[in-house]
Order: sequence, then C-alpha cells, then structure tokens
Amino acid sequence: LIENALGFLATADRHPLTGRPKDVDTFGQLRERLGDDPSRPSYHVTPPANWLNDPNGLIHWNGRYHLFYQYNPAGPFHNTIHWGHAVSDDLVHWEDRPVALTPSPDGPDRDGCWSGCAVDDGGVPTVLYTGGRDKRQLPCIATAADDDLTAWDKDPDNPIIEELPTEPEVLRTEDWEGEFRDHCVWREDGTWYQLIGAGIEGGGGAALLYESSDLRNWEYQGPILTGDRDTAGTVWECPELLDFGDRQLLHISNYEDVVYFLGTYEDGEFDADRRDKLDHGDFYAPQSMWTDDGRILTWGWLPEARDVSGQWNAGWSGAMSLPRELSLADDGGLCQRPAPELTELRGDNTSYDVVRLDAGDTEQLPVESRSFELRATVRLEDAEAVELSVLESPDGEERTPIRYTYESEVAIDRSASSTDPQATGDTQWMRVRPYDAPLSLRVFVDGSVVEVFANERHCLTSRVYPTRDDATGISLSADGGRATIASLDVWDLDSVW
Ligand code: FRU
Repeated sequence: LIENALGFLATADRHPLTGRPKDVDTFGQLRERLGDDPSRPSYHVTPPANWLNDPNGLIHWNGRYHLFYQYNPAGPFHNTIHWGHAVSDDLVHWEDRPVALTPSPDGPDRDGCWSGCAVDDGGVPTVLYTGGRDKRQLPCIATAADDDLTAWDKDPDNPIIEELPTEPEVLRTEDWEGEFRDHCVWREDGTWYQLIGAGIEGGGGAALLYESSDLRNWEYQGPILTGDRDTAGTVWECPELLDFGDRQLLHISNYEDVVYFLGTYEDGEFDADRRDKLDHGDFYAPQSMWTDDGRILTWGWLPEARDVSGQWNAGWSGAMSLPRELSLADDGGLCQRPAPELTELRGDNTSYDVVRLDAGDTEQLPVESRSFELRATVRLEDAEAVELSVLESPDGEERTPIRYTYESEVAIDRSASSTDPQATGDTQWMRVRPYDAPLSLRVFVDGSVVEVFANERHCLTSRVYPTRDDATGISLSADGGRATIASLDVWDLDSVW
C-alpha cells in the first residue's frame, strides 16, 4: 500500500515524502521565484534561496571552477550549515549544483559542516572542513565520489583531530570547548601543512600550524602568528596563507574585519611588515583559488546590512563578492583588481572622455540601472570632494553617494540609501594611499551591492537597499572647488545565472 501511495505521489510530480510539488524543489525554480526582488544581485553569486555565508572548497577541477559555500537550505538564517555548490566554466557565469555536504545525524558534523578548503590529493579531490557538534568544533575530511564533485564520502575516522592544542591553550567560552575552526591546506616538498583558526586563552586570535604526510594524521607545530587582542580580535576565523614568491600574505577574519598581514613566512613563523584590511565594508571570511595560469582569485562573503526580519521577508541572505585578483605591487604592497574575466559581462556602454565640474555643479548621467560597472579617473583639482552618487531617485530621496575627499578618503554614505528602517544607514570608509596621480575607480553596483575598487589596491563593499523603483540614477558633483572626471565609462552588466 505504502509503495503504491509513494508511486502515485511520485508520478503525480510530487515529492514522495514531503508531498510538495517537485518543481518547486529545484534550485532553478527557487531562483526564479526571487528574480523580481530588486535587491537581489544578478552578477554576484547568491544562494538559490535561503542562507549563504563563507566561500569554501574553491577548486578548479576537470576543467570547471567549483565554488562551495556555507548554506542553510532551511531558511535565510544561520543554522544547520551544509555546503552549497555552484560551478562555472569561465569564472563569470554560474550554475547551481545539489548540496554537496550535509550534516550527518550521528557524525561529528551533526550541527553543521562549517568552513573548509579543497585540495588535490594525488588525483582525489579532498575537502577539509570543520564539523560542529554540541560544544565541539573539530576537523573532518571527505573525498569526492565523482568528477563533478557532487557526491562526497566522509572519512569514517572523522574527526581527524580530536585533541585541542594546549601550548598555547585554546580559548574556551560558555558556548565552545575551544574556538578552533576553519582550514587552509597546502603541500610543500611532499608534506601537507594546515592552518586552523583559533583564539588563545588570555591572548588574541591565532593561526595554528599542523603537519601531515597523508592529510589524516596531523602533528601540531604551534602558531605561525598570534594577534594582539586589542587590535586584531580575540578569535581568528578562516585563516589563509597566500604565497607571492618573495613575500607571503596571511589574512584572518576576526568577527569584524578581514585583516591581512604582508611579510615573509618561513619555518612555521610569519614575520609581518604591513597590515591593513582586505576590504573596509561588508566583506568577510574570504577564500582564494589559484588559476591554471598562476593567478590568485579571492571571493568573500558579503553579509546583509539589514535586520533579520528584512532577511526573512526577502527569503534569501548573503552574496559573494566578485572574484578579486590579488598580486603584489612593485613597492611590495597589495594589489586587488576585479578578475579581468568580468569584462565578459559588459553590455550597453555610456562613455565620456572628460567631465569637468565646478564647485557645486551636478552632472546627471543618462543611465538608469541597478546592475552596472562604472570606471572613472577622478582628479580633485582644487575641490574638497567629489561625489559619485548611485542608486539615486530623481528627487534625491534615496541615493548612495561615494565620496572621495582631499584627505584621501573614499566613503560610501548610506544615510539616504534607503527609507527602509530595516536597512543599516552608517557610512563606511577607507583611506586610500595619497597619490599625486588621480584616483582610479571601478564601481560595481548590483541590486543591493556596491563594490568599490580604488587605485587597484583598496576595496570597500557596502550593502544598500533602496526601496524605490526609480532609485536607478547616477550623478556626479564637486564640493568646494573644481574637479575633473576622465575616461568615464558605464556598462550595463548581464546576469550570470
Ligand atoms: C565565518 C564562520 C567560520 C565558520 C563558519 C560557520 O563566517 O563563522 O568560522 O566555520 O562561518 O558557518
């Protein structure tokens, strides 16, 4: 009888167990149903619906780019985390894939498959991730069961590390037996190395180093760097070490910011000579992938900047940043530029050789869009500031000014971005290194994302939520003097799904 009933439900295009129509269970359908939401980014990676946080397991495999991410299929809130999965052939267009990792009811990852990374273990794609269960967070491992990386076999011996380091002592809290999670794994001269993020009892955050010959048996080596808790936070999450040849970069996420340290890493110790933030806005827990042609591409999670009820109403939460190409400048500093592949998305173009502004002038651009790239070179001449206002309604009620000031600051002012009280309204800003040369700006606006690259070095990403359909204008103005905007281009950008 049951078989018959299940058979009937299945042929009736209903899910045999839940009885829900099968078609609404597909990611394509979910995505389509959220398609009318003007806040939904169209060329940034988003979850099909529900919740997304950190990028995970980035790997180029069998000719395709795989981006996994922290995903809660049950709703737009952080709970019972799975690994969502998207694939791309060109780093620009993406397709949803079925959920890749699911918490096992009787496993060490029962409460969540948290962040981790992917490596090629002699031809076997392998992920290391943190399993959460009760008050414990412990490293787990899984290997791909197919070349499309859709099915994963968890190691029966998970968790692969059970004892927390005692030298120094890992921070315990009311909630956790040890703040100890997230993984960065690489191989050097036949030995595997792993960093795990942690907090130190009485100290600050730390990136802890382990060594292994087989990815399963790990020997603790000690911290490669510990932070000063007053300035770099008490817990470091998602540490990642990137090798630029002569110099190395370590970035960590400390609940607030993504802090990077530049310097040299040798014999288990990181010696930093520079430090800054990877992005000065809504950007967290980034992870990187090496391309076949030797470039480093980094994605970060762009958390929402509206309250929980706003996320519930929307039915989705979280987006990925654009892929950013990281490299070193001649002066040893960090360069960050949007991956060149993104120019693929450029559609209709509006272009000016030069726009000259006198004090108090406002120039309205003949573009209406909530999904575009703007590139310009800004010279302040004797102006105190230039304002590039995006997502602007004709009467100016809603607008998001990006201000560049003579004090070498770039700010995104969200005080008038939205009339929705659920949206955050503070100003986010960054100092850009003073140059005699003009400021080069690349601005990517996409639904509720404003992602700014300045001088190919500094990034500032803000989430904003205009409510008005006509908040699609762009204008330029100068304050307190003259300014010149040269090589100004605006391109409409296509959707990537
Ligand atoms: C960072 C983080 C990680 C953790 C994951 C859980 O945003 O808190 O430390 O592994 O998210 O989703």
